[in-house]
Amino acid sequence: MGCQYFAPTENGADSFTVAMPKLTVGRGTLREVGERAASIGLKRVALFTDPTLLSGHLVSTVRESLIAAGCKLDIFSDIRVEPDDDSVERGAQFLRGSAFDGVVSVGGGSVMDTAKAALVLFCHGGKAVDYFAAPIGQGKTIPGPLLPHIACPTTSGTGSECTSISVLRINQLNTKFVIASPYMLPVAAIVDPQCCDSLPANIVASTGFDLCCHALECYTARAYTQHSKVPAAAARQYIQGANPFSELVAREALSIVGQYLQRGVNDASDTQARDQLMWGATLAGIAFGNSGTHLPHALSYGITHLMADITTDGYPIASPFIPHGISVIVSAPSIFGYTAEATPDRHLDGARYLLADDKGATPDEAGEVLANRLIELMRATHMPNGLSGVGFNENHIQALAASSVRQGRAIANAPRDSNLVDLENMYRNALSYW
Ligand SMILES: [Fe+2]
Repeated sequence: MGCQYFAPTENGADSFTVAMPKLTVGRGTLREVGERAASIGLKRVALFTDPTLLSGHLVSTVRESLIAAGCKLDIFSDIRVEPDDDSVERGAQFLRGSAFDGVVSVGGGSVMDTAKAALVLFCHGGKAVDYFAAPIGQGKTIPGPLLPHIACPTTSGTGSECTSISVLRINQLNTKFVIASPYMLPVAAIVDPQCCDSLPANIVASTGFDLCCHALECYTARAYTQHSKVPAAAARQYIQGANPFSELVAREALSIVGQYLQRGVNDASDTQARDQLMWGATLAGIAFGNSGTHLPHALSYGITHLMADITTDGYPIASPFIPHGISVIVSAPSIFGYTAEATPDRHLDGARYLLADDKGATPDEAGEVLANRLIELMRATHMPNGLSGVGFNENHIQALAASSVRQGRAIANAPRDSNLVDLENMYRNALSYW
């Protein structure tokens, strides 16, 4: 199956790149941050975190570790959940204030993504929007290395510690886009599962579905051999398509979701499940960081663009707010029902890794089997019932599709082609599932 999926095509890519930070995983490893920083020559560190973590034990552990290793540090915590171009500009301004020689980020995807983008502005100038692809931005290329960045995730979902992208909201346009460059990959990631011990259930659930979709989109993405051959190494995008490495890692991440998501969400004392989800999130980050995501992530951007008058329990954030993982999963069952036609075996395999009871399903039932398993997991973890569960109805469908269709690169990474009408139908079929 694997070899066949990556069969050569005329003018298609015949090579792929794998990139990941130096990875340290295990309980208590936050205490190693100082040693890691010193080993790469850092003497003055900018520590990025968010206001809720600022006075907690995770930040104090990292702070003490840096001081013990002889590093001076200053803390930047003016970061909002779902970061925007303003918080990135504030981060860059902070970096300009001292002679920092590196950054340590302690937080969820919002903190790590802010650190990455602030480093871009600090090292290479300009505004965040300059680096977004046209027609949103100027498509400015990041021309060279950034200061070293050590990323320490405190949630089990985004995998941002292992990716070379930053997802930001542009306030003026009220929408999110991605800045991506191989230079944005952290040099090291310290993944300490104790960070998730006290996470509320709904955060474990929403970040868990982000992890689930990273792995599933990676596993079902268009094969790299079906993307165009690149003229030079620098032209190879992180969205390079599924490849033998990314699928290997994605498979394991999917198995972890299948086995541990429900347990980790519904029982905060289930340390084994929560540790596994943390490991799964890192694996899924490595996987999609080397393949790209596709339609579920592309369609999530329309949802967070057009959301109105909605909050999510457990997130102390003003309306409108839908956590990233929820914005991705609400359309996913409908989307995989659409894409399965292109690569049914791969969708069926994905469902089996998630521990679907496929009852001997045939390939033409693959979309239904995978969608049903996702819906089963959503219901077991108290997720909203599709788009209607996050405030949308039939009247919003056209606008949602018109917003998300701008995510051309991710849409082209899906195994099945789609146009605006197809996107509308995917949203329509995602209005409610039960
Ligand atoms: Fe994501």
